[in-house]
Amino acid sequence: MVPLKRRRVVSSTGGDRTVPPKFPQAVLFLLERKMGASRRAFLSQLGAGKGFQVEEEFSERVTHVISENNSGDEVTAWLRSQAGGRTPAHLLDISWYTESMRAGHPVQILDRHELQQQQIKEAEEEEVVFSVPSYACQRRTTLDNHNTVLTDALSLLAENAELSDEEGRGVAFRRAAAVLKALPRPVTDMTQLRGLPCLGGHSLRVIKDVLENGASGEVESTKQSERYKALKVLTGVFGVGTKTADRWIRDGIHSLQQLQRSGQTLNRAQQAGLEHHHDLSQPVMKAEADAIGEIVEKAVVSVLPGAQTSLIGGFRRGKLTGHDVDFLITHPEEGREVGLMPKVVSWLEAQGFLLYQKTTRNSYLESKEGPARPSSNMDRFERCFSIFKLAKHTSSGDDEEEAKPAGHKRWRAVRVDLVVSPISQFAFALLGWTGSKLFERELRRWAGHEKAMSLSSHALYDNTQSRYLRATSEEEIFAHLGLEYIPPSERNA
Ligand code: UTP
Ligand code: MN
Repeated sequence: MVPLKRRRVVSSTGGDRTVPPKFPQAVLFLLERKMGASRRAFLSQLGAGKGFQVEEEFSERVTHVISENNSGDEVTAWLRSQAGGRTPAHLLDISWYTESMRAGHPVQILDRHELQQQQIKEAEEEEVVFSVPSYACQRRTTLDNHNTVLTDALSLLAENAELSDEEGRGVAFRRAAAVLKALPRPVTDMTQLRGLPCLGGHSLRVIKDVLENGASGEVESTKQSERYKALKVLTGVFGVGTKTADRWIRDGIHSLQQLQRSGQTLNRAQQAGLEHHHDLSQPVMKAEADAIGEIVEKAVVSVLPGAQTSLIGGFRRGKLTGHDVDFLITHPEEGREVGLMPKVVSWLEAQGFLLYQKTTRNSYLESKEGPARPSSNMDRFERCFSIFKLAKHTSSGDDEEEAKPAGHKRWRAVRVDLVVSPISQFAFALLGWTGSKLFERELRRWAGHEKAMSLSSHALYDNTQSRYLRATSEEEIFAHLGLEYIPPSERNA
């Protein structure tokens, strides 16, 4: 029989017994067998740090014995050798512990956590090995994501890569996150990921970290890094891209206060962005998007009766909030849309709806320019980047209005993008501007790699037949691409 003293772990509770435990009913003991001493010490410390009582030694007090890669029989045998056969209330798998770490409290004990169920559990897990097709445009990705902790971690690393102009790395993390978003339930074990596409070594390491420890060290240190924080703050200003932010950071500007004091010359967009920064950093709600939709619609039909306005972007995919509101405008008669944008903008300006606007002209001409290259003509529609002045709704009349502090704004600034397309390109524009960004990227990759076609927001070109493929609906475009139709609400990759 092994003496109990040998089972000590070095300071799993930090020796600080004066802090009362947060969860006094649960007295935990981690079994070193197969787990190893260093992992046991690490996990014990993690638990103690979150207010759990993790015992260094096995005793009568222990209520939960937690082990890794042990069967119920193996743990029972060990207990018999230690404590004369007294079995604590719960013999649990490590998954219960890591889930509790993540939750910050002891989670409810489910069948799959109980060690006696080990054999059954393994059989079950064999069945929940996930399988998804490799292109995001072959998958249905709704907004209910069962793996937000994992996808948030990967998305943060994607964002950091994008902010650092490392596009390839950014896409790799985005693809990995998108695969997890498409899974029908939470990932609990690395073995479930076997055979899934787009999960590279780096992404797998991050996932493993989060599953085992509740967080990824790389993600946490990125969040804390001065460069990431500064890039995020500066590019959070409308009109500021990563190149500009990087230049400012090299000039020692890390915050908006420093930017304001620096005397840097700002272009018109950046000035407007800084002026309305507070409002623009608040998410836009669906009700606000609808209110703006009514205004845009009114402007459009006033200047060109019969013209049609469609809500695109994230709100068309069913999102409840967004960073901006996007609209696509067309007219059922080809050519009638020419010159429409300046008229719409003038109407909106005359009514006092615009705080800022910049219009770019359409330069895409199919016959002159030949096949639509996937990446080069994404922004060639007549397009208006604007900041709207949206009246705030007061729900309960004048009294509330009176109660407002002096100088309180009755409106908020909202970013709005308008795009005009001729009806012949409408289906491509609708598909191209509905997103998500990754879904679009994957559609173009699928078209190029699997079908020898070039897809843009203007057209679809078949390189084998050397001709354009026409379409009047999104369904037809999916059909040309040999893909099952995915509705907007399932394009949230
Ligand atoms: P957004 O950036 O508005 O994203 O682009 P979103 O999905 O609506 O999400 P929010 O606004 O952050 O909530 C909308 C779509 O427009 C296309 C993108 O591909 C995206 O799918 N887009 C955007 C372009 O094609 N070109 C651009 O220059 C910008
Ligand atoms: Mn948008």
